[in-house]
Amino acid sequence: MTTHIIDGKRLADDLIAEVGNEVRRLAELGVPAPGLAVVLVGEDPASAIYVRNKIKRAQEAGMTSIEKRLPADCTQDSLEAVVEELNQRADVHGILVQLPLPKHLSEERIIRLIAPSKDVDGFHPENVGLLATGQATLIPCTPLGCLEMLQREIGDLSGKHAVIVGRSNIVGKPMANLLLQANCTITVVHSRSVNGKAIARQADILVAAVGVPELVDETWVKPGAVVIDVGINAIEKAGKRRLVGDVNYAKVAPYAKAITPVPGGVGPMTIACLMKNTLVAAQHASQ
Ligand code: GUN
Repeated sequence: MTTHIIDGKRLADDLIAEVGNEVRRLAELGVPAPGLAVVLVGEDPASAIYVRNKIKRAQEAGMTSIEKRLPADCTQDSLEAVVEELNQRADVHGILVQLPLPKHLSEERIIRLIAPSKDVDGFHPENVGLLATGQATLIPCTPLGCLEMLQREIGDLSGKHAVIVGRSNIVGKPMANLLLQANCTITVVHSRSVNGKAIARQADILVAAVGVPELVDETWVKPGAVVIDVGINAIEKAGKRRLVGDVNYAKVAPYAKAITPVPGGVGPMTIACLMKNTLVAAQHASQ
């Protein structure tokens, strides 16, 4: 079996170019450029890299970007004041507070404070509810990117059995909702599942989003399945730091019909979908 390696970087470049074209078209009609605000609390190096990439991609798509940095020991009130100011600004259409936040801050309160119309992460309870009822406009970026890749790979997803490994609010749960709306049969496998591996082996589509390095090996995968690896885990192997997914790529790839690599799979698509959401938020604001 020849395995198709899904090129997330190329798909993301295409999507960002499409978003950029639409931004330019709107500019010709006098619509101001979409504005994305990214808030980073603290000095976590991985978060800083993600934020830098988000800002860079926003600029590539012709958007304006605002970066707000707060120290790791900032108060809840000071972070809330920043979000409230961004909620009020007419030139900001999308607000993203990079997670995780330092332990002393309440992520839940911050997510609830972001105006739902500017919540380009799709994490606000109002947007979560709209997704669950099939009315969403702002959909969490990682599952949206995964869906886009699956639809390009498979076409119509109706009737496929999709198994999602992991039940996070950011990926697992919204992924299940999106695939359900695409007419898949859904199973969510998690740390308390009984024999999750045997369930995963029934999947036509396997989405791994647990944050456990290389958990999913070939014994989890039905030959011919499409495998989407959401994990980005930094590990040390033979004294060298490298990034691996939640899927053991070398072991699984020979059996899969198609698979996303890490890096270069889901990650770039997440950022491209953030640009798409920011454009959608700006379009809604201008209507
Ligand atoms: N940290 C890891 N993934 C995400 C994401 O999709 N959005 C935000 N805001 N923070 C994250």
